[in-house]
Amino acid sequence: MSEKVFITGASSGIGAALAIEYAKRGATLGISARRSEKLTGIAQQCKESGAADVFTYTLDVTDQDSSADTAKEFIAAANGIDIIIANAGVAYSDKISSGEATQINQVFSTNVLGVTNSIIPFVPTMKENSSGKIVIISSIASFRPIAFHGGYSASKSAVRMLADSWRMALKKYKIQLTAICPGFIVSEMTDENKFPMPFLLETEDAARKMVKAIDNGKKTYILPWQVKMILYATRWLPTPLYYKIFF
Ligand SMILES: NC(=O)c1ccc[n+]([C@@H]2O[C@H](COP(=O)([O-])OP(=O)(O)OC[C@H]3O[C@@H](n4cnc5c(N)ncnc54)[C@H](OP(=O)(O)O)[C@@H]3O)[C@@H](O)[C@H]2O)c1
Repeated sequence: MSEKVFITGASSGIGAALAIEYAKRGATLGISARRSEKLTGIAQQCKESGAADVFTYTLDVTDQDSSADTAKEFIAAANGIDIIIANAGVAYSDKISSGEATQINQVFSTNVLGVTNSIIPFVPTMKENSSGKIVIISSIASFRPIAFHGGYSASKSAVRMLADSWRMALKKYKIQLTAICPGFIVSEMTDENKFPMPFLLETEDAARKMVKAIDNGKKTYILPWQVKMILYATRWLPTPLYYKIFF
């Protein structure tokens, strides 16, 4: 029987590449994002790559009710859920000097509330079946603060912590929690970066590695390996010195 996989933020970048990777294994997919035209294109690619079925949902993850309705719809259409990947995210700057909290609040509502809105509606079905995999896309930014992007770093730390907590709470129901912490991956998000991006990974390559980590039941998966090594080797280094050496 094909895997039933639901992915948020699948209209571009990592989410789209993950959808295509699961499509190649013949999965039944639920893909969601706000830009429906982009989603239709990704759905077509998934079908051509071998997906058993693809359901598309125009969804803003900051909308709690719509997220819950979408989860219900997908569970009914696919006849269950095996993997939910909360991938949708934004990396806006804090704009702390603007005097308005609008932009940083958008980061928190997408990257934190968007994750809780997306995952929690699937949990009762996973509990009932005593199986399921929950995947949260965090970031290496969850380990070190980034200047002007404090909201982004904080949001990614928050969701990594959620994964660590939920792993303990859901273990008895055989529900697996994986937090993925990517370094730099080619996507619309990184296209905007004007600074050097060491060890930048191609999107497809990153998605392949992520799927393998999920298959292997990794708890926290940091990629690429060079970034993981640097993070571990420098964990006691003060942040200003860390940035001086590596950026
Ligand atoms: N690329 C990297 O180097 C990198 C590194 C670490 C972590 N990440 C994380 O990886 C995830 C994917 O990012 P990406 O790099 O693939 O960037 P991306 O190409 O910009 O993709 C972001 C996705 O999130 C969706 N999204 C944004 N706001 C949304 C909302 N309110 N409701 C629903 N969907 C929303 C976007 O779709 P719509 O605009 O169509 O809604 C898009 O599909 C993010 O969580 C990001 O923080 C990326």
